[in-house]
Amino acid sequence: MCGIVGYIGKSQAAPIILDGLEKLEYRGYDSAGIAVYDGQQINMKKSVGRLKALVELTHGGAMMPGNLGIGHTRWATHGAPTDVNSHPHLNSKETIAVVHNGIIENYIKLRKKLENKGYLFVSETDTEVLAHLLDYYYKGNPLEAITKVMHRVEGSYALGVIFAEHPDRIFAVRKASPLIVGKSDEGCFIASDVPAILKYTRNVYFMENQEVACLKADELTFYSVDEEVIQKEPVTIEWDAKAAEKGGYEHYMLKEMYEQPKVLEETIRKCIIDDDIIIEELKMSEEDFRKISKIYIVACGSSYHAGVTGKYVIENIARVPVEVDLASEFRYRNPIIDENALVIVISQSGETADSLAAMADMHAKGVKVMGIVNVVGSSIARDADYIMYTWAGPEIAVATTKAYSAQLMALYLFAMKLGKAKSVLAQEEFRQMLEDMKLLPQQVEFLLSNQRKIQKFANRYIAAKSIFFIGRGIDYAISLEGSLKLKEISYIHSEAYAAGELKHGTISLIEDGTLVACVSTQEDLYQKTISNMVEVKARGAFVLAVTNEGNYEMQKEADYVIYIPKTNRYFTNTLAIIPLQLFGYYVAVGKGCDVDKPRNLAKSVTVE
Ligand code: G6P
Repeated sequence: MCGIVGYIGKSQAAPIILDGLEKLEYRGYDSAGIAVYDGQQINMKKSVGRLKALVELTHGGAMMPGNLGIGHTRWATHGAPTDVNSHPHLNSKETIAVVHNGIIENYIKLRKKLENKGYLFVSETDTEVLAHLLDYYYKGNPLEAITKVMHRVEGSYALGVIFAEHPDRIFAVRKASPLIVGKSDEGCFIASDVPAILKYTRNVYFMENQEVACLKADELTFYSVDEEVIQKEPVTIEWDAKAAEKGGYEHYMLKEMYEQPKVLEETIRKCIIDDDIIIEELKMSEEDFRKISKIYIVACGSSYHAGVTGKYVIENIARVPVEVDLASEFRYRNPIIDENALVIVISQSGETADSLAAMADMHAKGVKVMGIVNVVGSSIARDADYIMYTWAGPEIAVATTKAYSAQLMALYLFAMKLGKAKSVLAQEEFRQMLEDMKLLPQQVEFLLSNQRKIQKFANRYIAAKSIFFIGRGIDYAISLEGSLKLKEISYIHSEAYAAGELKHGTISLIEDGTLVACVSTQEDLYQKTISNMVEVKARGAFVLAVTNEGNYEMQKEADYVIYIPKTNRYFTNTLAIIPLQLFGYYVAVGKGCDVDKPRNLAKSVTVE
């Protein structure tokens, strides 16, 4: 979703801002713009399409002199992606420039009011209201104008604001849309996400709701909405700046898929200690675990799919009932939650607006929430009552791979701890699961090494109209994720079905040659799934089976079989997803798609 970068300091601002925006490209956007104060006035450049166009237009920023500026990548919400609608937005005198992430909900009312006062609007955006409203309230004191605007506008916003009359400072403002501030010896930075400024500083301040930051070249002050000074402590970011770079791979997605063995190893190293599971950051006592009567897993996209796997694993090894909900649905369905229930919100970014809203709703009802989050310091990580981190490092490709795998690991570990605390999971089984888990990194590595074969197979499907994924139980969960991976990056229509459900309607879509990927890793369900495979084959489908090594029976029915190494029955998703990720990736590459930045999608969806 939209990206913000701002800089004030000793260096020329534009190249730093463009470099930061490039690091945020993964968030998804359709236009970009930059405003820099050159010592006399605010200069602005905008461009629809890829950031590259803006970089070329400004000669890498070289033709925009000045040490103070703000930049933006826009993911259109109000008004089409055009130059005029791109950010920054200016007041009519061109003395105030604003970049904005989020949505101003009462912008129509405010726009009418300002138009009645003679303000002229040039764009269709909600953001332009902010530029004129700041102008309206500005009487020489920029902080006062900003806080007045904060009192008037409804909705969510992360803002970067510069005033030509105050060329020694940038303002950063936040409400419900992520924004960080960084400081180094070279200057101060604002950004909507850490990778944008990681190259320049690791000292980061996470802004809270309704806070304002005033950044000068060598000074940083935070204020409340009442203009009182607030003390804030920086957080040191431990991510390796290199981890957010492509490192020789053709795409971030490919690099991140190949990082999965390392990510699993990291989880094991951190959490399996002396044949036990220690989750250092999860401050949940044995008693807290024992008290849990029911679990609600709430998430969006792939995190939701990880949750579907989590349901099967938790219910089976801890015998605690689990409901899994899409965050955008959960909060509006008025769930009946008793006082011993636990809500688990899963989110890679920790900033997904739907998930955050569901969490806030639960808090308002007095329910405890545990976050499973990848980004330390993100909103969900900070607001959750309990936290478990996933140790995936920065993930740049829009289509998640390694963070999803890390979420599965977190859910396995949580389920095992719960099973043990509830005395449902026997010590011997617990120990065996730990041993099986320790083998996962090398098994994933092995599956990744088969990449050529999958690439060859994938090349046959670049012209496919539809591809279906089926599976039962835990294999249904992996089918959901396999199907999402494929469709989000290759734009091929795809659906995942519980294998037994296909015949209740969707089977009518099977034509001669339609590919049906059938995941079958649960021994007790082999025969049932084979029956479903036979059904689709009889209608002309080409069947790809993903199953366990040793299940050679499958070869008789399927047209193509991918075997995964033997593992614990609850961990099979960690292995089965690898060929499906590779398949989706290579279909998209074969079609020439922009794999890391698929159309219309955003990495971090910060609007509801
Ligand atoms: C977006 C991304 C998905 C992601 C989902 C949830 O839709 O494109 O890849 O799974 O958001 O994101 P989260 O950061 O909450 O896991």
